[in-house]
Amino acid sequence: MRLSKVNAPFYAVIGDPIEQSMSPAIHNACLQQLGMEARYEAIHVPQVELEKQVERLVEAGCKGFNVTIPHKLRIMDLLDEIDPYARAIGAVNTVEVHGKRLKGYNTDGPGFYRGLSDFHQGNLRDAAVLVLGAGGAARAIVKTLIMKGVPNIAIANRTVSKAKDILEESGGVALSISAAEQRLTEYDIIINTTPIGMYPNEGAMPIDLSSVSSKSTLVDIIYNPLMTEFLRIGLEKGCAVQNGVPMFVHQAALAFEQWTGKEPDIDLMEEIIHQKLGGKPTC
Ligand code: ATR
Repeated sequence: MRLSKVNAPFYAVIGDPIEQSMSPAIHNACLQQLGMEARYEAIHVPQVELEKQVERLVEAGCKGFNVTIPHKLRIMDLLDEIDPYARAIGAVNTVEVHGKRLKGYNTDGPGFYRGLSDFHQGNLRDAAVLVLGAGGAARAIVKTLIMKGVPNIAIANRTVSKAKDILEESGGVALSISAAEQRLTEYDIIINTTPIGMYPNEGAMPIDLSSVSSKSTLVDIIYNPLMTEFLRIGLEKGCAVQNGVPMFVHQAALAFEQWTGKEPDIDLMEEIIHQKLGGKPTC
């Protein structure tokens, strides 16, 4: 990465791999729409180069950057301050740069929550929620739901001990996938946070939906493909379904607001994602 100090503010996303990132497209479109003289770049940063590349970004005058796989945990060691909410979630995906000081935030969990509350009919606090998977995304989502006052949460995962770890302090039920399949009708909202069904393994299912109720809402945090097998079967069963686009654009919007103090156009962001993935907004 070669960066020279520039006068116009610039923002970035760092990760490995990063070539496929859609963040530059949505951030740059919103910066342009708001008439802001700033740009947003994707920068390939392998794990071993994290510290050095973060230093370079700061020296080059970067005002804020997103952090994606595999740096969301390691970045925390390089920050001067971590927002208490990100600390509670245990991961940072957004960094704000003030001079040489770095402050970390997590907008994944709140981004997910914004997307879900816009979509879900009824009070989320009354909903029984089943989360599939127990990785970083599940942790951010579950911790956020708990902080927002959603008390009835179960996590089903291939490795049940990882589900237990997330629920350790908050309570909630950790299940195997097959145990969750037996109890599927109990859940108002079922959220897939695993990569099962993601491009290029479309067609794979994180759980058998044979017994799902048509009253359940199914949410997949995957957005490529826009319609996963999990959502497709859910639709067939009469469920309300939401894909990963709202979470993605809301996490981006929250980062954008944090850095610029301005509200980006969510519809524009969604339109760009749909254009890039060659589909119509189906869910
Ligand atoms: P994240 O980016 O959220 O950290 P991840 O770690 O790649 O995502 O995976 C999230 C979850 O998907 C994990 O809990 C993982 O199960 P394990 O805890 O048992 O590893 C689950 N997962 C990923 N691939 C899977 C597969 N092929 N079958 C079942 N579960 C899978």
